[in-house]
Parts: sequence; C-alpha cells; structure tokens
Amino acid sequence: MNANNVKIAPSLLSADFGRLKEEISLIENAGADILHLDVMDGHFVPNLTFGMPVIQAIKKYSKLPLDVHLMVTNPDFYIDHLANIGVDYISFHVETEYHVNRLLNKIKEKNIKSGIVLNPATNWNQIEYVADIMDFILLMTVNPGFGGQSFILNCLEKIRIISKYKTIRKLNFEIEVDGGVTDQNASDLINAGANILVAGSYIFNSNNYAQQIRSLKLCSQNCLTD
Ligand code: DX5
Ligand code: ZN
Repeated sequence: MNANNVKIAPSLLSADFGRLKEEISLIENAGADILHLDVMDGHFVPNLTFGMPVIQAIKKYSKLPLDVHLMVTNPDFYIDHLANIGVDYISFHVETEYHVNRLLNKIKEKNIKSGIVLNPATNWNQIEYVADIMDFILLMTVNPGFGGQSFILNCLEKIRIISKYKTIRKLNFEIEVDGGVTDQNASDLINAGANILVAGSYIFNSNNYAQQIRSLKLCSQNCLTD
C-alpha cells in the first residue's frame, strides 16, 4: 500500500462538545482528512453520544467528509436519516446485524461508502462473504464505547491477516483502525495495512491539533511503500 494515501480521521468524541463549531473549524484547519463521528445508543455500548440532529448541525459547519461509526443495536434505523443529511461513510458493527449483506447494499445504493466494524474479539473471517461488496472495514483496536483507552496489541495481527486476504483476492476495500491510535503505533498500523487512522484523545487532548495530525502523517511517510 502507498503510505501517501493514509488519511487521518479525528474522532469528535474527544472534542469539547460545548464548543463544537469552533472545534470543527480548528480540526479542519489542522489538516484532518475525514471527520469521524461516533454514534452510541447506550445499548450496544455502555455510553450515549449524539444522534441525527447533532450530525445535521455538524454537516452545516464542516467541509470534511463525514464518517459515521454506528455503535447501535439497530443500525438500519439510521441509514435514511444519514443519507438525507449527506454523510460520506457509514459503518455498522457486524455483531449488531443479522443481514449484513443487505445493509451494506442499502448504504451503497445511497452512494455512501459502506463499511463493517469488527470488535477486537470478533474474528476477521466475518467479512469473508461480503469483502467484495464493502467499501471499507473499520477495525476496533479498543473495546467500543469510550475514548482514551489503550490500544489492544493483538489487533495488529488481525490487520495483517485482512490486508493479506485483500491482496490475495485483489480487493479494493479501505482499512480503517479506531482506538488508542498515537504516534507510537501509527507506523505499525500502516505497515500492517491500515490506510485510515481514527484518533480521538491523541489529537483533541493536545493544545496543538495540527502538530498531532502532522505527527501521524509523518509516521505514514516513514513507512515502507510498495
Ligand atoms: C470508541 C470510538 C473511537 C474513539 C477513539 O468507541 O469508536 O472513535 O473516539 O478514541 P481514542 O482515539 O481516544 O482511542
Ligand atoms: Zn469510532
């Protein structure tokens, strides 16, 4: 994979919600490529974040592609709303959906990039029969629900396996990783095959967002290219 294609997706979960409009503009000017939005329902994960009205407001103030990560028990409920708002990526957890193929297609039909999320304990082979339909996979490298947790090391192996599988089958899906991403593990993640890095606390808990984003991009430049 070409390391120059690596995209940084700050997760708004760690932003100051009282100053959301300002935070969005700061993160755009700091060089973010994508804005990652974590929707939680208090059922699938033990936390609640924001829903459709807030995403609608974010859309009004952001020029970045919006990447919605659904951590909810009924992802299907939200697809029409999100399509009306005009988001660019939607991913749902494979652990929450009986009809994975159908939901991926529903998202794609709305010209939105469709993705599957795997929890750290979920086997990579859950994607085997939909890998040719999905546009991206989102690999959780922490247990979903909260920002600021530590990266689970054995997830690196899962990224490598999926990346190898993608090469063997000559598929094009993107590989996004989410949870505990810092400049300490970004190079390993990119070398393993990831091309979208989500980072929440690493970026928003600093007072220089541009510097944090630059440090992650630098990791990608120091990686091997093919
Ligand atoms: C956790 C969310 C993440 C979270 C990542 O469930 O999916 O997007 O914001 O936060 P950090 O980068 O702090 O681990
Ligand atoms: Zn997320």
